Amino acid sequence: MTKQAFIIGGTGQIGRAIGAKLLNEGWSVTLASRGGRDIPADLVRLGAKTIVLDRGKPGELARSLGSGADAVVDTVAYDQTHADQLLDVEQDVGQFVVISSCSVYRDGFGRTLDEARENGFPELPDGMSETQPTVEPGPQNYSTRKVAFERRLLDHAQRPVAVLRPCAIHGTHSNHPREWWFVKRMLDNRKIIPLCFNGASRFHTTAVANIAEVAAVALNRPQSRILNVADPEAPTVLEIGALIGEAMGWSGELVPLDIGDPRFGSPVGWTPWSVPAPFTVNTDSARQIGYKPATDYAKAVPPLCEWLRGQPREGWRERFPVLAAYTMPLFDYDAEDAFFNA
Ligand SMILES: NC(=O)c1ccc[n+]([C@@H]2O[C@H](COP(=O)([O-])OP(=O)(O)OC[C@H]3O[C@@H](n4cnc5c(N)ncnc54)[C@H](OP(=O)(O)O)[C@@H]3O)[C@@H](O)[C@H]2O)c1
Repeated sequence: MTKQAFIIGGTGQIGRAIGAKLLNEGWSVTLASRGGRDIPADLVRLGAKTIVLDRGKPGELARSLGSGADAVVDTVAYDQTHADQLLDVEQDVGQFVVISSCSVYRDGFGRTLDEARENGFPELPDGMSETQPTVEPGPQNYSTRKVAFERRLLDHAQRPVAVLRPCAIHGTHSNHPREWWFVKRMLDNRKIIPLCFNGASRFHTTAVANIAEVAAVALNRPQSRILNVADPEAPTVLEIGALIGEAMGWSGELVPLDIGDPRFGSPVGWTPWSVPAPFTVNTDSARQIGYKPATDYAKAVPPLCEWLRGQPREGWRERFPVLAAYTMPLFDYDAEDAFFNA
């Protein structure tokens, strides 16, 4: 019998990638969303069904699920209430795959990504495993809420739950494409692009295709587990810029600068991957159950640049609301020009 997958957030960047992977593996796939995004026509052609669901409305998830699914993939779970929603329907579900985040990890002093601006950047092992301690669950911030979600579901579910922890996600159809930081500069014909921390920052990247691979591997070996998901290598910001420049046919210069922590200075050279110490994970646990990366950053970035090139430069804030919400100014060209002129 054909296995049924129900993807909450099915029209987002992760949902599309997982949907495509599962359709190719012979699953029947339902893409659930509030209906605000473009329908993925390529997936519909492959047989995907789309359904309107606002998971925030009580009882709607159960109604949309109908007679149930072999797997529910939840890409947009952010707190304990979302775990409770999944637990409410678990009698009709074979297993769960849910998207958490690598931002849950903390260092020995309790420092985290979320509070790095106030408390200092965490000192974490280069290539953290899933045994790295996490923040405590709670309502305080994104990561404490993600841990509350993870624990609630793992502690109470009677069905297998695979918790995936990706890093800096990249893919088409993103509303948070960090690559826009470079692509927009290149489209705006900036000839010099400054990079703080000498361009040496490494914030591990995760292609949506690699999330889809890990999701598929986990679904084929149902068991409750936590899995980091990341690209095979963690490129430096300088390498990221060079790959994007190549894909964009850009002939300017990337300028690594020996300037650091933007808390104490200007935004010049600060990119969405800029960190004073590595933030990287290992994917040994996923590999042990059969994960083979589908792609790497160098292969994934040209189609992403192509997609970004097709997006309107004006109005990017509405198109990429998560990126637009960054507290650091992303395109302060006046500050960059003043810096170089000085
Ligand atoms: N971006 C990163 O670098 C990063 C890193 C680590 C972890 N993550 C995790 O990645 C996940 C985000 O996935 P994504 O990047 O694929 O997001 P996305 O591209 O923004 O897609 C979100 C999807 O969820 C749907 N959706 C949103 N609210 C909904 C609701 N109330 N009910 C039903 N559907 C809803 C959206 O469609 P509608 O708007 O039409 O409903 C869309 O299909 C989050 O769990 C986040 O914590 C992200």
